[in-house]
Amino acid sequence: MAQHILSFDPASVAVVTGGESGIGRAAAIRLGKAGLPVVLTYFADAAAADGTVEAIVRGGGKAVAVQADVGDEQAVEALFERAERAFGTADLLVNSAGLNMSGVMLPDMALAQFDRLMRTDLYGPFLTCRRMVRALDAARRGGRIVNISSIHERAPRPGGVDYDAAKGGLAQLTATLALELAPRHIAVNGIAPGMILTPMNQSALDHPDELRRKESAIPWGRAGTPDEVADLILFLLSPAAGYITGTTVTIDGALSLTVAQGA
Ligand SMILES: NC(=O)c1ccc[n+]([C@@H]2O[C@H](COP(=O)([O-])OP(=O)(O)OC[C@H]3O[C@@H](n4cnc5c(N)ncnc54)[C@H](O)[C@@H]3O)[C@@H](O)[C@H]2O)c1
Repeated sequence: MAQHILSFDPASVAVVTGGESGIGRAAAIRLGKAGLPVVLTYFADAAAADGTVEAIVRGGGKAVAVQADVGDEQAVEALFERAERAFGTADLLVNSAGLNMSGVMLPDMALAQFDRLMRTDLYGPFLTCRRMVRALDAARRGGRIVNISSIHERAPRPGGVDYDAAKGGLAQLTATLALELAPRHIAVNGIAPGMILTPMNQSALDHPDELRRKESAIPWGRAGTPDEVADLILFLLSPAAGYITGTTVTIDGALSLTVAQGA
């Protein structure tokens, strides 16, 4: 039964940004295992991207890795052209590529830093969504998009003006596109993770004390794993989520509900 629910259109092709690491890697492997051809992007680590491709191929799937800076319009064009040559029109998209907050307070934040975050975490999804939707319009097909945001799209942190503003923008990009694209049956949803054990949390992975301290603030008692987020991505991209669009699913062990406690 479960297999039936998560079965995909045989013509579907998935593009996953940030597929060499963390959540993007886990999602690419899950999608490959579900039988979807996967085109994943990497930014700098070609060997890590090859590792993701090998994991997919070992599981019986098909995948190619493409170097791309998601904030670069030409690179995104080349990415989708490569996907089309390899497998056909992409109709499933996961925007996972992203940078973490700089921790720099406003007076000291260089415009270049703010711009770097915006380009990766906000312009990237704009460019990939636009390119995929143009192709789907030409092919008169629907599709599904998942944008990986963060609980910090709503919960601010000092030193996170770059990240929080980009993810807040991504939340509205997701909602606006869902409305705009609903008549064409292109679903657009967001995922807002809390603390997930990926290289973005390398410091906690390297320091057990820091990990314990951070996990003690999570009501569920632990951080999440990339595979747990990947399972949610798989569901939101699948026909089982057919009527779900314009929403953001929080996956954080209730961390984001702990604001204003004890007052
Ligand atoms: N790990 C967490 O706790 C957490 C929490 C909330 C949200 N997120 C979000 O999840 C997404 C995935 O993060 P992750 O935890 O897997 O981290 P990660 O660092 O393991 O992966 C991020 C990926 O983005 C790629 N990347 C960075 N800049 C890029 C660019 N300009 N173009 C293309 N790729 C680029 C990196 O190379 C890397 O592969 C991010 O958008 C992040 O903001 C993560």
